[in-house]
Amino acid sequence: MGTTHHPRHSHFLTKKLITWALYALIPLALLHFYLFPLFSPHHPSPSPHHSQNSTHTISSSHQATGAARTDEFGLIRRRQRCDYAEGRWVRDAAEPLYNGTSCRTIKDSRNCMAHGRPDTGYLYWRWKPKHCTLPPFDPASFLTLLKNTHLAMIGDSLARNQLESLLCLLATSSRPELVYSDGEVDKFPRWVFLEYNATVSAFWSPFLVRGVERTGAAGQTHNVLYLDSADARWASELDKMDTVLFCVGHWFVYPSVYYEGDAVLGTHHFPELNHTEIGFFAAFRMAIRRALREVVDAQNRSGGGAEKEKLVVVTTFPPAHFEGEWDKAGACPKKEPFGEGEKEMDYTDKEMRKIEVEEVAAASAAVAERGAMLKIKVLDVTELAWMRPDGHPGPYMHPNPFAEGPKKRVQNDCVHWCLPGPVDAWNEILLERMKKWKEE
Ligand SMILES: *[C@@H]1O[C@H](CO)[C@@H](O)[C@H](O)[C@H]1NC(C)=O
Ligand SMILES: *[C@@H]1O[C@H](CO)[C@@H](O)[C@H](O)[C@H]1NC(C)=O
Ligand SMILES: *[C@@H]1O[C@H](CO)[C@@H](O)[C@H](O)[C@H]1NC(C)=O
Ligand SMILES: *[C@@H]1O[C@H](CO)[C@@H](O)[C@H](O)[C@H]1NC(C)=O
Ligand SMILES: *[C@@H]1O[C@H](CO)[C@@H](O)[C@H](O)[C@H]1NC(C)=O
Repeated sequence: MGTTHHPRHSHFLTKKLITWALYALIPLALLHFYLFPLFSPHHPSPSPHHSQNSTHTISSSHQATGAARTDEFGLIRRRQRCDYAEGRWVRDAAEPLYNGTSCRTIKDSRNCMAHGRPDTGYLYWRWKPKHCTLPPFDPASFLTLLKNTHLAMIGDSLARNQLESLLCLLATSSRPELVYSDGEVDKFPRWVFLEYNATVSAFWSPFLVRGVERTGAAGQTHNVLYLDSADARWASELDKMDTVLFCVGHWFVYPSVYYEGDAVLGTHHFPELNHTEIGFFAAFRMAIRRALREVVDAQNRSGGGAEKEKLVVVTTFPPAHFEGEWDKAGACPKKEPFGEGEKEMDYTDKEMRKIEVEEVAAASAAVAERGAMLKIKVLDVTELAWMRPDGHPGPYMHPNPFAEGPKKRVQNDCVHWCLPGPVDAWNEILLERMKKWKEE
């Protein structure tokens, strides 16, 4: 896994074409500048509050909705979307909205500040999408969107990571009450923001389909997945959820046995059973498909006339960054993000994302055709997560790992993300996307 090489010549060709196109466009751009100097990209767009009903007004919201607009080269008025997935991390001196002491719900092992991570540079970056800007998180706006609804974040510990970031961000405006906890394991906690009657919950379901994790039973070394059956722990509560967010992936790479009904469909990295190796990409695709299908069916069962529209969001696979062995110092030692194009994503990360994007597109098209009260969308974070090798707890998953001096062996977490940290940007994007989806 992760060793596939990609032909680069097509990339090269594209680059040449773009360069050529740029030269061709400069005269047009100059002409445009001459005709409409006010609307050059070098002037800030008028803010929506000051916008007049002029045909030339470019408001910042237009850039994000994909409405026809004048682009950098003036005369070309094609539909250009603000693709939040494309961009770079830029330095930003602003303090994060919360910190390791002000937010009480951060899981211990993500609280890098409290655990003595000495460098703080990783806190001061903002995600800058290429064709627009990402506004700072506004907790009151998010809570208003969640008013009288239930947002469930379903998946593995990365879904939980995103939920904890969201809770901390929202808590800067309104205090969440923990209304349900299943004790020490705490895999299905639920919070309510009473002021807004907004419920936010987590559902542990690392495969989305029914299954047993490889650590699920004593001595079990492999996953067992039932690819044709959604995990009832969340599926049975779908009628009580208004927004469903899925985030999974990391558990799929382990040795696994896959079932369809009672029959073994195949295995991954588990030759002892003498079944066909089908690989985890195929299983991942089937699991995502099954989960989306489940939501569509449930919405249909609740009657064509379900009064409330449901929103389903798939957070795409956030890559890990192990550069060395997980139990040696310096497993993910980076202190700064990658620059744009500095390091290409691993094949596995790309493929996981691609599967999710494709499955969401297919499910979404099917739903649109049948006019169901349902929206299915991606929150495409794979690339921006990939660019943050500095955002993981590393050894600071444990408190003060080097209190007694340097250590040879130390457990490292290069999968999850420090809070505050890069995941906060996922939720900033989620807010912007949710505003737009609501308008659609
Ligand atoms: C813009 O148009 C809308 C409706 O077309 C109108 O209600 C509003 O008053 C107009 N605003 C200005 C500044 O002309
Ligand atoms: C965390 O935030 C609180 C409240 O904003 C502030 O009083 C405190 O000094 C901050 N702590 C750290 C370690 O930055
Ligand atoms: C409170 O929110 C729940 C969803 O979590 C909803 O079913 C209920 O109707 C809301 N209550 C009111 C008074 O709107
Ligand atoms: C797998 O095949 C080998 C060789 O044919 C056989 O010895 C072994 O018992 C088989 N294992 C299972 C679980 O069927
Ligand atoms: C809902 O179910 C009905 C009958 O069971 C079916 O005809 C229809 O296509 C389904 N709609 C969706 C959106 O799945």
